[in-house]
Amino acid sequence: MHDLDIVILAAGKGTRMRSQLPKVLHTLAGKPMVQHVLETANGLNPSRTHVVIGHGADQLREALAEFKVSFALQEEQKGTGHAVAQAQPHLGSGIVLVLYGDVPLIRRDTLANLLAQVDEQHMGLLTVTLDDPSGYGRIVRDSDGHAVAIVEQKDANNEQLAITECNTGIMAMTSAQLKRWLPQLSAENAQGEYYLTDVIAMAASEGVKVATAQPHNATEVEGVNNRSQMARLERAYQQQTAETLMAQGVALADPARIDVRGKLTCGHDVFIDVGCVFEGDVELGEGVRVGPYCIIKNSTIGAESEIHSHSVIDTAVAAGLNQVGPYARLRPGTRLAVKAKVGNFVETKNADVGEGSKINHLSYVGDARLGRDVNVGAGTITCNYDGVNKHRTEIGDNAFIGSNTALVAPVTVGKGATVGAGSTIAKDVTEYALAVTRSRQLEKPDWPRPVKKVK
Ligand code: UD1
Ligand code: MG
Repeated sequence: MHDLDIVILAAGKGTRMRSQLPKVLHTLAGKPMVQHVLETANGLNPSRTHVVIGHGADQLREALAEFKVSFALQEEQKGTGHAVAQAQPHLGSGIVLVLYGDVPLIRRDTLANLLAQVDEQHMGLLTVTLDDPSGYGRIVRDSDGHAVAIVEQKDANNEQLAITECNTGIMAMTSAQLKRWLPQLSAENAQGEYYLTDVIAMAASEGVKVATAQPHNATEVEGVNNRSQMARLERAYQQQTAETLMAQGVALADPARIDVRGKLTCGHDVFIDVGCVFEGDVELGEGVRVGPYCIIKNSTIGAESEIHSHSVIDTAVAAGLNQVGPYARLRPGTRLAVKAKVGNFVETKNADVGEGSKINHLSYVGDARLGRDVNVGAGTITCNYDGVNKHRTEIGDNAFIGSNTALVAPVTVGKGATVGAGSTIAKDVTEYALAVTRSRQLEKPDWPRPVKKVK
C-alpha cells in the first residue's frame, strides 16, 4: 500500500452561514461535516491526515480532539493553494489527496477510484458535470480530450463559461509533484488568491497527464456555503439512509419522514411510522414496530416489541415482546425484561422491570428493581430523592402496588405483597402482606347538604 497523506481544508469562515460556529462544525445527521469527511478519509487508511484550520481554529482542535490528525494553521485565508501549502512541511513522500471539510458526503469508493490513477506520470482530478455550473471552476480540455487547465468562474471568458464540466476541488497527486508546483503558484487572478487549481496547468505543461474521475452523483461533491445547502444535503443524506434501510427489509411509512443521526440496525420486518428520530447506536430487533413521532437514542429494542407513538427512549434496553407508550419516557438505565409493559405518561430511569411486569399509566419509577409480574397502579411514584441522595426501591415478584402510591425510598415491598391505593409506603412491606396507610373512610348517614342562605 502506498504512503498516503490526506489534507482536509477547513480554514474558511463560512460567512454565509451567519453563525458563531465555524462552518465545518455545523452538523449533518447529528455529526459535524468535517467529521463525516474525516471518517471517510480514515476508510482509505491514510498514513497521515492533516486538517488545515484558520477561522475557529481552537473550536476545531477541540471538536476533533479524539481523531488522529495533525493541524496546520492557516492564519490568513489566501486561497486553496496557500491552504494546502500550510500542510506541506508535514507531508510524506507518497500520494497526497486534498479534501474539503465542507464537502461532507464524498464517498470512499469514489476517492479510491481517483487515487488508483495517480503515479509519477499522472495526477488525479475529480470532476462533475452540472446543468448549472455557475460558481465552479471549469475544466478546460485540449483537442485530444486531456484536461489541461481549470479556469475559475471569475477568470473565465464566455467560451469557458459555457463548459459544464466542473472542478470539485478534490484532487490527488504525488507529494513530489505537489512540492514542485505549490511554490510556483501566483495570486495574479481575479480574486488575488493562490489557487490550488493552477497545478492542473502546471501538470499539463510538464507532460504529467491529468486523469479525471467522477462521483456517483453530484450530491457527493456538493459543498455547503449556506444553511439552505446544508438542509438540502441533510435531506439527501436522510433519503439515502432511508433507501438503504428499505433495501434491508425495513418498512418505512414515509421514507421522507425519518431521521437517522447515527447508526440504526434493524432485524427483519421492522416497521417505522412517520416522524421518528434515531440517534447514536440504535438496534431494533425482528418485527419491532415503532409508532409515529418517537425518538430513540442509544438503545436496543428486542424482537416483536411495540413502541407506540410519541415515546422518548434514551439509553435503554428492552428484551423483547415489550409494549411501550404512547407517550412513555424511558431514561438512561431502563431495562425491560421480556413482556414488560410501560404505558402512557410513565417515566422510568435506572430501573429494572421484570418479566411481564406492568407500569401502565402516569407513574415515575426511578432507581428501582421490579421482579416479575408486578403490577404498578396508575399514579405510583418512587420517591427516590430526599433532596440530597438517591435511594432505591425494590419490589418483589407478583407484588401489587395500588394506584396513587408513594414509595418512599429506600424501601422494599416483598414478593406477593399488596399495597392499598393511595398509600405512602415509607417502611418495608413483608412478603404476601397487605399494607395500607390511608386514613379510614368516615361515613355520616343521611347527611344534609348545606343549602344557600336566602337574605
Ligand atoms: C473551489 C475551486 C473551484 C471549485 C470549487 C468547488 C479553487 C481556486 N477553486 O472554489 O475550482 O469548482 O472549489 O466547490 O480552488 N479554504 C481554506 N483556505 C483558503 C481558502 C479556502 O481552507 O485560504 C477552504 C474553504 O474553507 C473551503 C474550500 O477551501 O472549504 C474551498 O474554498 P472556496 O474559496 O470556497 O473555493 P471556491 O471559490 O468554492
Ligand atoms: Mg472562493
